Amino acid sequence: MKKILIIGHKGYVGTVLTKHLIKIKKYRKSIYGIDTNLYKLNKYSKFKKFSFLDLNADCRNIDLSKINPKPDVIIFLAAVSNDPMGKKFRRATKDINFLSCLRLAKAAKKINIKKFIFASSCSMYGASGNSLKKENDILQPLTDYAKSKVSAEKELKKISTKDFKIISLRFATAAGLSDNLRLDLVFNDFVANAVLNKEIELLSSGTAWRPLIHVNDMAKAIKWAIEYNFNKDFLSVNIGSDKWNFRIIDLAKRISNIIKGVKLKISDSNVDKRSYRVNFKLFKKIAPKHQPTMKFKHAVKELEFFLKKESYSLKNFRSSPKWSRLSCLNHLIKKKKLNDKLFWITNK
Ligand SMILES: NC(=O)c1ccc[n+]([C@@H]2O[C@H](COP(=O)([O-])OP(=O)(O)OC[C@H]3O[C@@H](n4cnc5c(N)ncnc54)[C@H](O)[C@@H]3O)[C@@H](O)[C@H]2O)c1
Repeated sequence: MKKILIIGHKGYVGTVLTKHLIKIKKYRKSIYGIDTNLYKLNKYSKFKKFSFLDLNADCRNIDLSKINPKPDVIIFLAAVSNDPMGKKFRRATKDINFLSCLRLAKAAKKINIKKFIFASSCSMYGASGNSLKKENDILQPLTDYAKSKVSAEKELKKISTKDFKIISLRFATAAGLSDNLRLDLVFNDFVANAVLNKEIELLSSGTAWRPLIHVNDMAKAIKWAIEYNFNKDFLSVNIGSDKWNFRIIDLAKRISNIIKGVKLKISDSNVDKRSYRVNFKLFKKIAPKHQPTMKFKHAVKELEFFLKKESYSLKNFRSSPKWSRLSCLNHLIKKKKLNDKLFWITNK
């Protein structure tokens, strides 16, 4: 039985992944997780009812050789996980997303762990115009967050071997309902705006490209990565689907066609330079049975239904610690509840 250690299992993606794997018989008793639990779980979370080994620890300090049982596979999700947080907490972003990831991968190799799965991001493609970006195309990371992912991939590739395989999953932007739901993601922000204000406010003219993937489909892709046997030492693969390569304006229009009576409010500013359209052919070819299947309409409706029940807490959701990870970290710092010294070093 493969033992699977998920680092960062309590976040937006990690809670969905853990639930997904625990429902699969062969993994039920072999999952465990490490997380500092930066973003506490919301009260609706069903995640808590699952019992499995669950350590509250910082991945920068853990000694892998002392983790019992020894894992066969490590899934590294822990991160300062978006661009606004990366901008404010540059040091922590580099330290967690890149340096601690690399340190752990080296430690894993030393104790003969066989596979390391890294949660990377399509944001590495930066501002790349209309062409569909393939895995071996040039990377143009624009933000500290994206740069941390590029650095991690580059160094991980160097230490991979035939006995220590590394898969880097370059995820499209996540979307949809999770047990640790956040609204600081474009799809979730639009649906929340539609539910709260009957309006979708674009912070740009909406011409930028952004591939999306439902968080359930991310979990499926990670399961595929656990099981996938490949000949190379290192593999990086774009994770998403052609159908969900959207221009931001089209994304907003599609959501407004599903949630009735919603108007679009478009800004004429284009401060955000990120725009990338991604080629998912490799993923389709090597993982034909693990392709994204979530229907767009269902993803909108499911989130709308949940958020309607939560509407009392949605006011100012963009700056609420409950719904925005950056606001959550700012709040913890203000209340002196974040003991992690690196988060106190901001770039203000
Ligand atoms: N959400 C997306 O759109 C998206 C897209 C592409 C890639 N990814 C990547 O997938 C991974 C998971 O994303 P997410 O949206 O679930 O992020 P998240 O911020 O919701 O979750 C990250 C988890 O890591 C934990 N963590 C942070 N620092 C830690 C540390 N030092 N030690 C231990 N745990 C720590 C946090 O407590 C949190 O539970 C990240 O690496 C992210 O960069 C996410």
